[in-house]
Amino acid sequence: MSERDATDFARRRFVKGVGAALTVAPLMGDDAAAGSQMNDTFLKACRGAPVDYTPVWMMRQAGRYLPQYQKVLAQTDFLTAVRTPEIAAEITIQPVDIFGVDAAIFYSDITTVVVPMGMDLRYSDDKGPSYANPVRTPADADRLIVPDDPADGLSFVYEAQKICARELANRVPLIGFAGAPFTVCAYMVEGGPSHAFSTYRRLIFDERAAFTTLMDKVSQHTANYLKAQAAAGANALMLFDSNAGLLGPDDYESLNLPYVRRILAALKDTGVPLIYFGLGAHSSLAAIRDCGADVISIDYGLRLNEAVAQLGQNVSVQGNIEPYVLYDSKAEIRRRVAETLAAGKAARGHVFNLGHGVPRYSPVDNVKAMVDAVHELSQV
Ligand code: CP3
Repeated sequence: MSERDATDFARRRFVKGVGAALTVAPLMGDDAAAGSQMNDTFLKACRGAPVDYTPVWMMRQAGRYLPQYQKVLAQTDFLTAVRTPEIAAEITIQPVDIFGVDAAIFYSDITTVVVPMGMDLRYSDDKGPSYANPVRTPADADRLIVPDDPADGLSFVYEAQKICARELANRVPLIGFAGAPFTVCAYMVEGGPSHAFSTYRRLIFDERAAFTTLMDKVSQHTANYLKAQAAAGANALMLFDSNAGLLGPDDYESLNLPYVRRILAALKDTGVPLIYFGLGAHSSLAAIRDCGADVISIDYGLRLNEAVAQLGQNVSVQGNIEPYVLYDSKAEIRRRVAETLAAGKAARGHVFNLGHGVPRYSPVDNVKAMVDAVHELSQV
């Protein structure tokens, strides 16, 4: 593609902010200008259907490296932003406006879902999310409630998603998400972020009944939560299992993955593509392949071509560029994009992404360069 075509391509996807979203410029050329056809390249790749180019979005694309995000957060705080539908929707759409990514991921956090179960969520700027009442005993686990109605205490999520769906209708799909139960329970037991999660890992083995009760309850609530997100307008659903690597492969497959399978099975009826991201579960790809997800998100610790070879042709892949390469030169970013696109070609479908979240101080113009390079270099 010539440089001018590439610029046009980017410009067609660049639209004005939320306030102007109802009068957006056409995205897909003249055909779409007349109607309201969504750019569904991401959804096609999730299902393994043919695409004109490789779709791209980034885990944690809405966040602190963006000046537009910092501006919103300067006037509020994290939990208020998450709990105010108009603010959450605005932040969700920012990366679509700024970079022309092919999907929006709903702005929220994996820690909020369990508040209606009885968890006391706090947030501090330096430490991140924490719970004032961590789960440490079987009695603590027994006390947790599974709300009958997933809207109880979480209606702000579905309201925000309805706003997003409306504002994004002519642009890109919305990804709803939750933490996988094993990862959410890690925070519930530990109380907050941790390097080793040693309190959690001890509880798994010396308070097995508490662990099982906790996982059962969180799984049931998470399935209800994700179903409600699909009903509110999420076009795909993703489970973030960022702590999957805490257990070795046999324990991961017996103590974590069965709950993931249960949730994904419960979501089949929604009809939307399901994505699973198990960070660090490198020895279990064969088991992950059959977990019920349409897309397996691969972290930066695996070679994409080797992951694709193990996953076969029944699932699509997402990933997996080294996130910190965003601090390197644009030439190096472009080289790595080409390499990742080449590896993704062997997959049933490929959604370009990072191997984990966007780092906190990533240069914005490098993020833009990465997205543009994916679009440009993957044109067929
Ligand atoms: O852009 C997106 O991907 C959507 C929003 C999103 C956030 N958190 C917003 C957020 C998503 C998908 C998450 C998931 C999440 N949250 C995970 C799984 C993915 C991963 O990164 O491994 C985890 C483990 C968490 C828990 C969490 N939330 C931590 C440990 C922290 C503090 C440290 C950090 O990384 O920022 C958060 C806070 C958080 N979640 C922020 C954002 C934008 C930063 C809040 C701020 O603005 O100060």
